[in-house]
Amino acid sequence: MKLTNKTILITGGTSGIGNTLAQALQKHNKVILLGKDPVKLEKARQQGFLTIPCDLSKQEDIEKAAITVQNDYPDLAVLFNNAGVQYNYLFTSSVMPLDKIGQEMDINFTGQAVLTQLLIPVLMTKEQALIVNTTSGLAYFPKLNGLVYSASKAALRSFTTGLRYALCDSNVKVVEFIPPVTATNMTADRDENKMTPQELIRIILPQLEKGRKVVTTGKLRLFPWIAFLFPGLAHKILSK
Ligand SMILES: NC(=O)c1ccc[n+]([C@@H]2O[C@H](COP(=O)([O-])OP(=O)(O)OC[C@H]3O[C@@H](n4cnc5c(N)ncnc54)[C@H](OP(=O)(O)O)[C@@H]3O)[C@@H](O)[C@H]2O)c1
Repeated sequence: MKLTNKTILITGGTSGIGNTLAQALQKHNKVILLGKDPVKLEKARQQGFLTIPCDLSKQEDIEKAAITVQNDYPDLAVLFNNAGVQYNYLFTSSVMPLDKIGQEMDINFTGQAVLTQLLIPVLMTKEQALIVNTTSGLAYFPKLNGLVYSASKAALRSFTTGLRYALCDSNVKVVEFIPPVTATNMTADRDENKMTPQELIRIILPQLEKGRKVVTTGKLRLFPWIAFLFPGLAHKILSK
């Protein structure tokens, strides 16, 4: 599907990978950014983006956002579920309150599943439509200091595969986007080789337009196989 003259909604579009994606798409499309932080949303408006305030951990915010799309942007054809948070801690030696665990699951999985469900009727009215869900290599094998994050991404990955089959006879295509370690706020405290968000978006946009079911970089195409065939090696790679 050609990504031109489309109305596109990006969750987590006010920073990091989502914002770089938004900037790349803005020239030839109408781009709506959904975010929580009012300061970042105001900055995005000044840059010419449309915005929708929404905390993806709050059901009422998600319902309001969906109504805004239905009423103001019924031409929506592409949904990027890209928002995410990652809380790094050792599960076995930390006591995390239930709401912290719930929040990570809500933002990374539940909230975006609810948003998707509410927006599918809008997407269905288009000749061609696309849902792109951002997972992670950690959806394929968990990292010890991010067990809940990894589980939330595994849930999103499973949901993405299921949704693709559920919608296979419709006009709505469903894609999984697996970023490698990328230099954003999320990875600011990690001292390892990181791809720039610009380089990542340059790689994945042509894959999306070609209709690939999974869009990612070379390394991340290999990692799921390593995780499946050699789980011990996957654990070693992630523990480095
Ligand atoms: N960076 C990596 O190495 C990497 C690797 C694999 C996967 N990913 C995934 O890629 C996606 C983008 O991550 P990033 O690296 O670009 O991180 P980022 O710069 O921290 O951006 C995260 C985005 O999520 C939004 N968000 C967080 N909590 C939210 C909430 N409660 N409601 C609505 N929006 C919320 C933030 O918006 P506000 O600022 O408005 O809260 C922000 O725009 C995430 O799904 C992440 O899990 C990243």
